Amino acid sequence: MAPATLLSAVLLAASSVRLASAATAQVFAPPSRSPLVQTSNYTSFSNTTLNDRKVVKGRVFDRIIQVWLENTDFATAATTPIFESLAEQGILFTDFNSLTHPSEPNYIAAAGGDFFGAADDNMYHIPSNITTIVDLLEDKGYFMGDIPGEHARKQFLRFRVRVSLFSAPNYASPASGTYPYYMRKHNPLIIFDAISQNPARMHRIRTFNDFANDVVNGSLPQWIFVTPNMVNDAHDTTIDFAASFLEYWLVPLLTDPRVNGENTLILLTFDENENHAIQNTIWTVAMGTAVPLNLRGTTDDTLYTHYSTLSTVQANWGLKSLGRQDTNASVSNVFSFVAEKTGYRNVKVPASEVPQFNLTAVASGPLTSFLFQPFTAPNLKARGAGYGGVLTLKGLNEKLTADKLPPPANLAAQNLSTPWQMSPETASGKTIIPCTDTQCP
Ligand SMILES: *[C@@H]1O[C@H](CO)[C@@H](O)[C@H](O)[C@H]1NC(C)=O
Ligand SMILES: *[C@@H]1O[C@H](CO)[C@@H](O)[C@H](O)[C@H]1NC(C)=O
Ligand SMILES: *[C@@H]1O[C@H](CO)[C@@H](O)[C@H](O)[C@H]1NC(C)=O
Ligand SMILES: *[C@@H]1O[C@H](CO)[C@@H](O)[C@H](O)[C@H]1NC(C)=O
Ligand SMILES: *[C@@H]1O[C@H](CO)[C@@H](O)[C@H](O)[C@H]1NC(C)=O
Ligand SMILES: *[C@@H]1O[C@H](CO)[C@@H](O)[C@H](O)[C@H]1NC(C)=O
Ligand SMILES: *[C@@H]1O[C@H](CO)[C@@H](O)[C@H](O)[C@H]1NC(C)=O
Repeated sequence: MAPATLLSAVLLAASSVRLASAATAQVFAPPSRSPLVQTSNYTSFSNTTLNDRKVVKGRVFDRIIQVWLENTDFATAATTPIFESLAEQGILFTDFNSLTHPSEPNYIAAAGGDFFGAADDNMYHIPSNITTIVDLLEDKGYFMGDIPGEHARKQFLRFRVRVSLFSAPNYASPASGTYPYYMRKHNPLIIFDAISQNPARMHRIRTFNDFANDVVNGSLPQWIFVTPNMVNDAHDTTIDFAASFLEYWLVPLLTDPRVNGENTLILLTFDENENHAIQNTIWTVAMGTAVPLNLRGTTDDTLYTHYSTLSTVQANWGLKSLGRQDTNASVSNVFSFVAEKTGYRNVKVPASEVPQFNLTAVASGPLTSFLFQPFTAPNLKARGAGYGGVLTLKGLNEKLTADKLPPPANLAAQNLSTPWQMSPETASGKTIIPCTDTQCP
């Protein structure tokens, strides 16, 4: 194929046309000789590391590494060899669900406990009075009775988003020019102002070269969210491509004590499924040294969603909650093997009451032009799985609760975007957001 043809196909696939991806027929190429060796195929070399040494013990695990792949039906992953062999090493969750379509709302929800009505992949910036899992983790610095003050808070700030490459030279096919490897919509923490406007927090959003540097230096955080790039996560490619990436990146790390050391939980999952006409169940496995030996190779059919990962982390470290859907018992069951040890009681939702997680643009909220409603305070009376109350931030109007909202407005009918919307990220193949760790809006 002539290079020019390949490039245009690539841009099309990366923009919005999901079904075009098969036509690109990209072949996996390892960006480096090892996940722990930095490479010039990534945009920048890392010469700084985090300095996380202290470990805050959890009730069941001391570290969680979430790896999110993209757009794959449960049955597709379940019949792909590498996924089958990974399932044998952990607990396969057979009723783990995404929340909606398309991608971005799910990433937002995984950090903020709600997707705030979002029904597209536009560029949003969520105001700084809205809490995320990062606030809960930092807050724990006080909760534990550590040295109070800024110092203690920074010591506990151990979260990590793995951002991958920005638009960068195409390393698999150098003649093709550049490739939009990075998408902000898949980088959950950066969408929240409380993180993107805080340089110390932004420093903890790392690249894969940073990851290599941090692992080798022994300063890996305790809460890690990994977003592989647009080809490695199967978004622009196929499940077989993602499988090759896992063989290159994840499989060797599973036997590396610097990553999968004592009490490590590794959650491999997907943002959403591919077929919107069926329930949005996504193949998800809990692996790592924290998974009891007798449960490896088993399945768990408890109803989980992306909110379950928040509630599980809260239960594990005794964190406060966000007071949003992370405390809605029917959609936030704690992973059973963690619930058993932390005394959290999961609910059994009757099949007839299980939500349709495959719907789009039916929820009202501040991030939808169809059913716009302002940001509200969380439910301050909620009881989360960590039993620690609801965390609030400065600038929050605690009186503006859901029951005080005006009825949803249809901004779309007036051709207005929501006040938190910046620009469509995926409207055209040419819209590549050049965004560095410190410059992402
Ligand atoms: C960059 O990736 C290509 C494709 O896999 C590979 O051939 C090359 O060795 C890589 N470069 C480095 C420095 O690892
Ligand atoms: C460290 O990395 C930064 C950003 O890539 C670069 O500007 C700087 O020159 C590097 N410093 C050293 C000592 O290599
Ligand atoms: C590695 O860790 C040490 C000790 O925490 C720290 O002083 C150093 O700056 C880190 N980074 C590098 C690149 O060595
Ligand atoms: C969502 O999935 C259900 C099956 O769980 C299906 O009946 C329904 O038609 C789907 N909805 C859409 C909008 O495709
Ligand atoms: C809890 O989740 C269920 C299922 O999505 C939903 O019907 C219900 O409205 C939610 N409750 C609250 C208080 O948000
Ligand atoms: C949160 O902050 C935004 C932006 O300042 C504001 O519009 C909104 O009313 C606030 N919401 C609450 C519940 O305080
Ligand atoms: C909204 O935009 C569309 C397309 O540009 C236009 O046809 C329509 O008249 C506009 N509606 C309003 C209410 O301005």
